[in-house]
Amino acid sequence: MFDRYTIVGHFYDFVSNLYSGKSIQNCKIAHLDLLKPGDKVLFAGVGHGRDALYAAKRGAEVTVVDLSETMLMKLRKVLTAEGGKVDVRQVHSDILKFDEAGTYDMVVANFFLNVFNRSMMPRVLDHLIAQARPGGKVVVGDFAYPRGNLITRAFKTAYWYFAVIFFWLIAGNSVHDIYNYPEFMAKSGLRIEGKKHFRLLAMDCYWSVLGRKPA
Ligand SMILES: C[S@@+](CC[C@H](N)C(=O)[O-])C[C@H]1O[C@@H](n2cnc3c(N)ncnc32)[C@H](O)[C@@H]1O
Repeated sequence: MFDRYTIVGHFYDFVSNLYSGKSIQNCKIAHLDLLKPGDKVLFAGVGHGRDALYAAKRGAEVTVVDLSETMLMKLRKVLTAEGGKVDVRQVHSDILKFDEAGTYDMVVANFFLNVFNRSMMPRVLDHLIAQARPGGKVVVGDFAYPRGNLITRAFKTAYWYFAVIFFWLIAGNSVHDIYNYPEFMAKSGLRIEGKKHFRLLAMDCYWSVLGRKPA
């Protein structure tokens, strides 16, 4: 399986902290306090998985899927540092080949959907929604759709393109504008129940959007 994150996978979280302070890390755990012990949660494109670890420590039954062996190896290091006390089921796969439809109380896509181009992303989102049980939650954490005055929007757009071009060069990710996730989620049948914003330089650069699948 070709691993696009062979290089950047080793220092992904370091780069992300450098780029955002702690905002991205805080965004990734924004809705995880809703998990109860025993809840089944799926993390799509988990990366180093500190969010998955957080969920597992809350007593959730955690499954993670990632296409990159490098990313999963980093996740295993994170888990080993916990002394093997935290259990996380790891699946090395393309998310579209992973099918446990209707199983999960919560499906989390943190900084994952932005790797797909505009025609593919809604297909992946629909597939994630299918993995949630009826009445289950779907959480998308990512770059916030730029709002505010002209200067703020210009900053947020430039800030986004800096990251997206870096990941296009280093991992071959798609280059596109910032997605308005609540719009896509609502179009795919989710009820939007919450949005939490995370700031950088006093601007809302990231958000975590909580959607609910109809029961
Ligand atoms: C931008 S990183 C985000 C990682 C992590 N969620 C985070 O917030 O730090 C995208 C992740 O999605 C994974 N990925 C990309 N395409 C995938 C696919 N089709 N199926 C599963 N994982 C995929 C990559 O290997 C990478 O770990």
